[in-house]
Amino acid sequence: MRKKVIAGNWKMNKNPEEAKKYLEELKPLVENTENEVIICAPFIDLKCLVKNSKGSNIKIGAQNMHFEDAGAYTGEISGSMLKSIGVEYVIIGHSERRQYFAETDETVNKKIKSALKNELKPIVCVGETLEQKEEGLTQEVITKQTKLALEGLTKEQVENTIIAYEPIWAIGTGKTATSDDANNSIKSIREEICKIYGQNVANRVIIQYGGSVKASNAKELFTTSDIDGGLVGGASLKPDEFAKIVNY
Ligand code: PGA
Repeated sequence: MRKKVIAGNWKMNKNPEEAKKYLEELKPLVENTENEVIICAPFIDLKCLVKNSKGSNIKIGAQNMHFEDAGAYTGEISGSMLKSIGVEYVIIGHSERRQYFAETDETVNKKIKSALKNELKPIVCVGETLEQKEEGLTQEVITKQTKLALEGLTKEQVENTIIAYEPIWAIGTGKTATSDDANNSIKSIREEICKIYGQNVANRVIIQYGGSVKASNAKELFTTSDIDGGLVGGASLKPDEFAKIVNY
């Protein structure tokens, strides 16, 4: 049985003081869950979150990283830096980064390799645009993104990678994919992984759904055959709402 993994993606929200307060509120609300709980926060919040989450079941992740360990890359943060402060996860290739910050399948692949080298668990985002969905290209787009993202990884590394299927038209729009559609898309990603890395890896890899997940739809989504939890944006910003999703 695969574990359910519920990750909050705060995006560009909350300063360290707000982050600390949120964490104190969230801790008791999720302490009895068997699901994995992750908060992916802005860089500036990470140190404080790592420190204050010690002894709880909440894990901390970043939302991006550079693929080099160090160098002349003004404004960037590396995987080795994240590792050095106790961060455990990192979102890679979120559609907002692909769209606004020129992230490509190639940089996504490099970042995943660097994250794994630095013993961080990547949460790799794939997903189709509304246009691609309307043209019937969803499966083609997401399986290709998955293949390119994972290129050159060992089986073991793929098992240590989380995939988040996030249809772009569902992010922040209040429009959620139906649980059947989301489950089918995730099945096609799992089949692609099976083709390249074999059934055992495909059975083990965690694939989340993301895109307007909220307390009212979490259960329907997370109790399907292939959806292993969610990557939650807007609804992760309030601890009580996020806890309801974790405890779906
Ligand atoms: P949303 O964002 O839950 O606000 O739609 C999800 C995401 O972008 O990860």
